[in-house]
Amino acid sequence: MTGRIIGLGAYIPKKVVTNDDFAKFLDTSDEWITERTGIKERHIADHITEKPSTMAVEAAKKAVGDAGIDPKDIDLIVTASTTSDTVIPALSCIVQRELGVSEECGCFDVVCACPGFIVAYNTVQGFIESGNSKLALVIGTECNSNFANYNDRGTCILFGDGAGAAVLKAEDIKRNEFIMRSSGYRSGCLKCEAARQPDRWEEEGFKEATSFYMMGREVFKFAVTEVPQIIKDLASKYSFDLENDVDYFILHQANARIIEATAKKLGIPRDRFPMNISKYGNVSSASIPLLLTEMKQDGRLKPGMKLVLASFGAGLTWDANYIVY
Ligand code: ACO
Repeated sequence: MTGRIIGLGAYIPKKVVTNDDFAKFLDTSDEWITERTGIKERHIADHITEKPSTMAVEAAKKAVGDAGIDPKDIDLIVTASTTSDTVIPALSCIVQRELGVSEECGCFDVVCACPGFIVAYNTVQGFIESGNSKLALVIGTECNSNFANYNDRGTCILFGDGAGAAVLKAEDIKRNEFIMRSSGYRSGCLKCEAARQPDRWEEEGFKEATSFYMMGREVFKFAVTEVPQIIKDLASKYSFDLENDVDYFILHQANARIIEATAKKLGIPRDRFPMNISKYGNVSSASIPLLLTEMKQDGRLKPGMKLVLASFGAGLTWDANYIVY
């Protein structure tokens, strides 16, 4: 058995921050941000009412409603977040409680930066394929603005907040096909230290170290090299043709230029790479379920379509999946 996505949902914070809003307190401009990233605006959470936990619950409720299932029947919840508002319990346990899911359900979280949703998805597929889950919830939720350094114009303009969720039901369909790769050797490119390190509180630069730090150009080079390569390797490993056997390439929305470069390197028309980055910026692990939700709502995504999902981020980590929607 393999999990098929039968429901999708998303939660986007109400507050919109435009590029011009950034230009009011940073040496930047709408023109620079649009040209270099494709981002025009992003949604920023209210840190009291829109936490990763509350956004996860809202996205999950919508996905459950979209699937038309009784939440009591869910037997596994896996949530991805790198910006969680709780250390314990797992966000998945909070979602379980708020949705009224039974105590027969297993709950845990994964931390894997932007690829988190895909990693959670693959983990759930492992449970389904081994017969340990029949109906699962996979969630990506992030409050990136809580960790952004608003003095660093090279990173803070990139990120947005939000959550996306998918319901996976065990069905007798093609196996989940994927490749996951990591490079801890390149971890210095993109990092954020944990805040509670009392022995280091007085250390110079510690406040900045607990915000996102990114070597933008290095991460860009990594993405435009490894993402096309892993997609080519996926096609070769599972013997499918990128031109003829894929309806859409759903890439992590980090930078429009990364997606355009990937399309070009693969020789696939750009219109097969849907994008919504202009409206949301980089919402990390929420970006792929958010894009899938939008595509379902506007009718682009139809059952039976073949999709390549690919993501990349801190770690460094990157992965690609070939799925039937
Ligand atoms: N406005 C104006 N100028 C800026 C800004 C800004 N917001 N940010 C940087 N600049 C300046 C730099 O200071 C630099 O100036 P200098 O030449 O005088 O030194 C110049 O613009 C060029 O800087 P670069 O960093 O080389 O610009 P680049 O074209 O590489 O774009 C960017 C920067 C957008 C960050 C790009 O490198 C990028 O998108 N990288 C990938 C980021 C990413 O995808 N991260 C994903 C993972 S996220 C995760 O996992 C949590």
